Amino acid sequence: MHQREHFNSRLAIVLALAGSAIGLGNIWRFPYVVGEYGGAAFIIVYIAFSLCISLPIMLSESIIGRHARKGVYCALRDLAPRRPWWKWAGLVAVLGAFIISSYYSVVGGWSVDYMMRALMKGFSPDAPDNVMGIFGRMSSSVWEPIAAHTIFLGLCAAIVMLGVKNGIERFNKFSIPLLFILIVGMLVFSVNLPGARGGVEYLLKPDFSKMTAKGLSCALGQSFFSMSLGIGAVLTYASYMKPDQGILSAGVWTTLFDAGFAIMAGFVVMPAVFSAGIAPGAGPSLVFESIPYIFAKMGAASPLLARVASVTFFLTILIAAVTSEISMLEVCVSQLVEQRQISRRKASILVFILAWGLGVLCSLSFGVLGHVRILGSGIFEFFDQLSSNYIMLLGALAFAIFVGWQMKKADVEAELTNGGSLRASSRLFKFLYPVIRYVIPPAIVLIFITNLL
Ligand code: PHE
Repeated sequence: MHQREHFNSRLAIVLALAGSAIGLGNIWRFPYVVGEYGGAAFIIVYIAFSLCISLPIMLSESIIGRHARKGVYCALRDLAPRRPWWKWAGLVAVLGAFIISSYYSVVGGWSVDYMMRALMKGFSPDAPDNVMGIFGRMSSSVWEPIAAHTIFLGLCAAIVMLGVKNGIERFNKFSIPLLFILIVGMLVFSVNLPGARGGVEYLLKPDFSKMTAKGLSCALGQSFFSMSLGIGAVLTYASYMKPDQGILSAGVWTTLFDAGFAIMAGFVVMPAVFSAGIAPGAGPSLVFESIPYIFAKMGAASPLLARVASVTFFLTILIAAVTSEISMLEVCVSQLVEQRQISRRKASILVFILAWGLGVLCSLSFGVLGHVRILGSGIFEFFDQLSSNYIMLLGALAFAIFVGWQMKKADVEAELTNGGSLRASSRLFKFLYPVIRYVIPPAIVLIFITNLL
């Protein structure tokens, strides 16, 4: 029997959870949806949702994980041995983690590619308009994005292979503080660019009329994705917590770090976009077209500054993507290690091969496989929507119902309060438990229905 690993300290678990949470979702989606759905109004609703809905789900996942000391499938199987459907819910979560890990790695690969470009030759100041075309050419080609995807996934699988303490914990320990240093540095730089005011206003002008059902569902969906909920990433990390580490404080810190990072990313990206006088977009075009265009324009005035800024920017995206990717891979690897009893090394290699294969299909859907449609969407888009609109929500629903209705109340309380020794957690439990039972499940069902309409 192998000894189960643990995160070494309270800080290590917070850094791991924050590493999983802070990722591409914070950098390329958050700034855009904020502007699209009412600026400060959206930010307020987003924070409220994160604290009132996402945080309780994060705590539910943590409670299951630490109580079972197993990954998602085995945890649900062992804690509810007479209700076999729970383990199937666990399997769906693992599948969700696997799907996201494969297409996320394609985007991680693009950031490897752009970081190398920024490092080797920068973005040509002579033809900033051409710079915007690089992304289309690169992503639709065959070998370049696949090579970058291979490097990215290989790096992440290697970290996971090294283990919880020697791989994941060690990597997060230096990369999360570095991420915050980089983002603060870029923030100062960006808000001081000429014409940055427009971007600041875009993010801050509150417009509550945009808070429609769609806006609300978007805020919650963004918060779920950003906090890595519903696919067992939090559950699996929490299964490596020691009994004296606090679940509540880890959850609260993670929520604050994640929202704080997203807001800072907004103030890095949007002022720069407005300063360059281009229309704000979301997703790939924002990060891989608009931003390089800005660096190219900046390069005409000060090449060195543009070079440093562009390397910093893509390095930040790359690190943020790596720390998220390893949390998804860990869900799959721990499943294989625990259920199939194979070594971590073999499991990591197997997950690498499978995720690489699906990732290749997703990558090719921007080029030669562009015509392939699954239920009307391209391959990449299909897997993105399947996982973030459906699997994550269903997973979150399952975890909340499991903690609220399947586990014994006394076990849930003991887990959250470390056997009654944490006073603040004990006080909060009285309030939290009914929220998990009665508020979270209907809220998720409502969002699910809104997504279907
Ligand atoms: N939270 C990550 C992001 O914002 C994505 C993620 C989703 C990571 C699910 C792990 C699990 O990019």
